[in-house]
Amino acid sequence: MEIIIQPTTEAAVSVAARIIARLLHDKPDAVLGLATGSTPLPLYQALIAMNLDWSKVTTFNLDEYIGLPRAHPQSYHSFMWENLFQHINIPKENVHIPDGHAPDIPKFCSDYEIKIHEAGGIDLQLLGIGTDGHIGFNEPTSSLTSRTRIKTLTQQTCADNARFFGSEREVPHHVITMGIGTIMEARQILLLAFGCQKARAVAEAIEGPITSMNPASVLQMHQTAKVCLDEAAAAKLQRADYFRWVYDHKPEWQDF
Ligand code: GLP
Repeated sequence: MEIIIQPTTEAAVSVAARIIARLLHDKPDAVLGLATGSTPLPLYQALIAMNLDWSKVTTFNLDEYIGLPRAHPQSYHSFMWENLFQHINIPKENVHIPDGHAPDIPKFCSDYEIKIHEAGGIDLQLLGIGTDGHIGFNEPTSSLTSRTRIKTLTQQTCADNARFFGSEREVPHHVITMGIGTIMEARQILLLAFGCQKARAVAEAIEGPITSMNPASVLQMHQTAKVCLDEAAAAKLQRADYFRWVYDHKPEWQDF
């Protein structure tokens, strides 16, 4: 894993934006795996401001709540259109977001896997991380080889996400999420984490054992996973000084 610690959230976002811009420059028809939540929001704003060409890009979102109508303000459909897609030139048919209202959800999930495969696989998967280490909505104890499927959220995730809803009671308990095995097949992974509330999950994921109790720890097995952190999210890393040193001494040819 490449751990990139930046002094501020803004600086970390700008590194992440450069990585994605470089990919779209090198591969205009890239397939991106996208994430929701508060973490990627400033990145999406930065990407919009960069005026990149998305006309050949295909996207697959990680997850969606089951039971929320697409138009619900807290559905991940609404989130993605409001915060990214309506501001860029991506063709509507290139956007894929799990459908929490599909009549046959298990079939939808296996079709989603097929569509990712038919698109050539994901070039870069963007991830946030839950306070319990979840990626996508793969909660602790998720199989590390899981595929797109229905998951039940933990109480902690419902409580964490209640801030977006009127109350915790309104947070759907069931979701569709890409599996950990699906995520791990992406050619590049870019995980972002900001703020002190993520510090423990981040430290366990990077420096702890690989365990389904912290699903993000599986990224230790990925060949090209990058983790972009602000200082607050890096606060519990024992090797933070080493990670900073490595980044500061990156050979020029290795830069993004
Ligand atoms: C949500 C999403 C994840 C996200 C995580 C953290 O529940 N399903 O994809 O990474 O929780 O969210 P936030 O960035 O708002 O802290």
